[in-house]
Amino acid sequence: MADESERAYEGRIEARREAVAAPELPYRPRNPVRFNPEIGLIGCGGIAESHLAAYRKAGYRVTALCDTHEIRAREKQQRYFPDAKVCTDYKALLACDNIEVVDAATHPAERAAIVAAALKSGKHVLSQKPFAVDLDAGARLCELAEQHGVKLAVNQNGRWAPHFSYLRHAVDAGVIGGVRGAHFAVRWDHNWIAGTPFDAIKHVILYDFAIHWFDILHCFLRTQTAKRVFASVRRSATQTALPPLQAQILAEFDGAQASLSFDGDTRHGQRDETWLLGETGTLVSSGPNLTSQQVELHTQAGVARPELLGTWFEDGFHGTLAELLCAIEENREPYNNARDNLKTLELCFAAVASADRGEPVAVGSVRKI
Ligand SMILES: NC(=O)c1ccc[n+]([C@@H]2O[C@H](COP(=O)([O-])OP(=O)(O)OC[C@H]3O[C@@H](n4cnc5c(N)ncnc54)[C@H](O)[C@@H]3O)[C@@H](O)[C@H]2O)c1
Repeated sequence: MADESERAYEGRIEARREAVAAPELPYRPRNPVRFNPEIGLIGCGGIAESHLAAYRKAGYRVTALCDTHEIRAREKQQRYFPDAKVCTDYKALLACDNIEVVDAATHPAERAAIVAAALKSGKHVLSQKPFAVDLDAGARLCELAEQHGVKLAVNQNGRWAPHFSYLRHAVDAGVIGGVRGAHFAVRWDHNWIAGTPFDAIKHVILYDFAIHWFDILHCFLRTQTAKRVFASVRRSATQTALPPLQAQILAEFDGAQASLSFDGDTRHGQRDETWLLGETGTLVSSGPNLTSQQVELHTQAGVARPELLGTWFEDGFHGTLAELLCAIEENREPYNNARDNLKTLELCFAAVASADRGEPVAVGSVRKI
């Protein structure tokens, strides 16, 4: 007994000796200084709740809500922005001259036409993910935005999840030197999709869910070229959802390796872990789920454990729009610009093709799914 408590005491002393101050990094969303335009939201379905809750909290002005099902737009209006206009035809929303920014939160199939029309009407656009199902069509939308002098950004909200945001700022600040390994292990329960439209998507994990991890992988390794991806998927024996809930991906970059492992049928002991192995340090983020994460920075100096504020959903949905608004105000490309997002989609599409073909696939060679 005495030995045990002595060991625990020594462990605590050791942990304290190792602990060093964590670098201060600007990982939280930043609002524009003066720019607070009128915003129109098209598509008032499930995920629009998170958009509107974050925008209201940030003090943004949503003045029009559109959904082909009027009741959905009306419900959101009553809950979040009671003064917003409601309409069922997105062209009516685009005809409002006062609206400068459009948030397109429908599914990708119908979203391409909506985004194109919004850009042509001179409005800046935030598109939900996945940005495109065809990379060349996605590139044409980027050109359309340039032609009309407006910004097109993608709602890759994981970039502003506190742990991912801290990690990418740390990488960009050179805190661990060049990244040589990026590894993700996500063990959670995705069976909630049983009986929903997501149940009909064969590659729901690789295409709809893992897109956030492909995107953050692209952010972590943005200075390195992605070469090949090898992916496989399988159904777990106990899952109740239809599509395979297990997926694993190996990705080769010119100077790094990456692995992503998804177990969507984990009923007990759920975990979500990220490792970034750099030349001068290692970053680890770990926790029981997406919103509860502890980051550790290991360097020669010791171990730093930043206390991070915020959650994925609040900061993520605030962060994507905040970055677009700041980019408009500062007349620069947003960090989450759509052209950059094509790189994320290249990784994702190569993984889907690899899982179907059972062989490695060159990143960039698969243009549509
Ligand atoms: N973490 C995330 O970022 C996250 C989470 C969930 C969903 N999503 C993405 O958000 C998008 C929407 O997902 P969802 O779960 O909210 O779907 P949903 O089906 O609940 O909502 C889509 C809404 O768009 C409306 N709509 C369709 N066509 C329209 C049109 N022409 N004009 C106006 N409204 C139209 C539908 O009536 C529906 O209410 C998808 O691309 C999905 O992948 C992202």
